[in-house]
Amino acid sequence: MSALAGAGIAAGPATPAADAAIDARALRKTFGSLVAVEGLTLSVKKGEVFGMLGPNGSGKTTAIRMFCALLAPSAGAATVAGCDVGTQGEKVRRLIGYMSQRYGLYDDLTVEENINFYSAIYGLYGSDRAARIATLMAELGLEDRAKQLGGTLSGGWKQRLALACATAHEPPVLFLDEPTAGVDPASRRRFWVSIHEMASRGTTILVTTHYMDEAARCDRLAFMSRGHLIALGTPEEVTHQFGLASVEDVFIELQRRDEQRLTDSGQRTAGAR
Ligand SMILES: Nc1ncnc2c1ncn2[C@@H]1O[C@H](COP(=O)(O)OP(=O)(O)O)[C@@H](O)[C@H]1O
Ligand SMILES: [Mg+2]
Repeated sequence: MSALAGAGIAAGPATPAADAAIDARALRKTFGSLVAVEGLTLSVKKGEVFGMLGPNGSGKTTAIRMFCALLAPSAGAATVAGCDVGTQGEKVRRLIGYMSQRYGLYDDLTVEENINFYSAIYGLYGSDRAARIATLMAELGLEDRAKQLGGTLSGGWKQRLALACATAHEPPVLFLDEPTAGVDPASRRRFWVSIHEMASRGTTILVTTHYMDEAARCDRLAFMSRGHLIALGTPEEVTHQFGLASVEDVFIELQRRDEQRLTDSGQRTAGAR
């Protein structure tokens, strides 16, 4: 039985759901002989906070980069905000916000100047830009730090500023790749309040995290393992599905199976010699 079947996931219909903000059909990405993402089929609804979990190297960032039309899929298809990532990349990039694992803030620009810079890149001008910057600063609590240099902010405030910059153009779909890695618990909690506020206004958010308290705050979760989607559902569904007590237990169990498979295939290879 495949891992996917073992996790009880159906492959899903061949056409995207009408209310899907992100839709992937048998998405695949290879780098030479390495298969980074294999047969990824999933659908994220508008306004959903969707968590992608998995050990390092399981294909989360690669999947996100395909959704952001920054990497061309090797096979399969995906739509984001109704646009095909393969043929409408330009349009997709205008409709998304992407906070990468190393978001490019400018250390020598102030908080306000960083937001101003990204707003300009995203094509906001004049009074629209000024109004949007004021709203963002207020929403993310950045007003008191407006004149502070980006480089002097703590990790938590840097991530808030990065979120402001990535959402300057009010994208309907937002991709956050480990946005709170290395950030203190209080700042992480504040960050998640902002995420839920954005989602309640209709923004669709796909977020990756290694923090299980954050995973529990997602509407639904996708577990990735070596490029494959191996479990999908609400935090309650996945914990129930595996008969375990918490999302953390599921994560650890899946990682254990993953490592076991690697050991088994290593032994088989050694045995075949
Ligand atoms: N540009 C690239 N060239 C070659 N291999 C890559 C590239 N990007 C990612 N990979 C490989 O693809 C796999 C999945 O990586 P990634 O998507 O970054 O995983 P994750 O985000 O889950 O840690 C890893 O084995 C990684 O080394
Ligand atoms: Mg990654």
